[in-house]
Amino acid sequence: MDKVLVFAKKLLKEKIDKNSVVIDATCGNGNDTLFLAKTSAKKVYSFDIQKIAIERTEKLLEENELLSKCKLILDSHANFDNYVEDEFQAVIFNLGYLPNANHDITTNGKITKLTIEKMLKRISVGGIIVVVIYWGHQNGILEKEILCSYFETLNQKNIEVLQYQFINQKNNAPFLVALEKVREF
Ligand SMILES: C[S@@+](CC[C@H](N)C(=O)[O-])C[C@H]1O[C@@H](n2cnc3c(N)ncnc32)[C@H](O)[C@@H]1O
Repeated sequence: MDKVLVFAKKLLKEKIDKNSVVIDATCGNGNDTLFLAKTSAKKVYSFDIQKIAIERTEKLLEENELLSKCKLILDSHANFDNYVEDEFQAVIFNLGYLPNANHDITTNGKITKLTIEKMLKRISVGGIIVVVIYWGHQNGILEKEILCSYFETLNQKNIEVLQYQFINQKNNAPFLVALEKVREF
């Protein structure tokens, strides 16, 4: 069976073609941005609130000669509307804290929820938002509760919601929720 991050990439890849605009909502060390940049997508927007994350991502993209198709933005994903004018088709959220940095700076459940809410209105029909939820830390537990309660309320006629989780793993292993927009609302 695919590990959570492998499955996340499969879901995203299925939605991406040469006309796609895609978003990495939490670029961190840049691994997901690099993955998106390696697909056929025409444009990648990548957000983080920490300068160190943007710097690490920029370096990784430069090393792979893929910086030119990416726009790295030092701002909260909550403000994505200020930067992304195009229609977009795929988004990844990799929640929690930045490895090898300050673990007190984490994604915030309320902000993540509001951002996903706004993105679901704007994303193309057929588009997907993949959220990898880490709940092995205090803020993560709260974030998981806020997000899962919200996801359960989404109208299935508009958004299909999938949860992918190994339910016998120890230590609050990360799991994935994918939201696919099936019609305009
Ligand atoms: C688990 S890391 C992401 C890992 C990353 N996707 C990778 O491939 O290395 C989570 C990141 O989310 C960032 N973050 C937290 N709140 C944010 C927000 N409101 N907007 C954008 N990024 C945020 C943190 O600074 C951190 O770098």
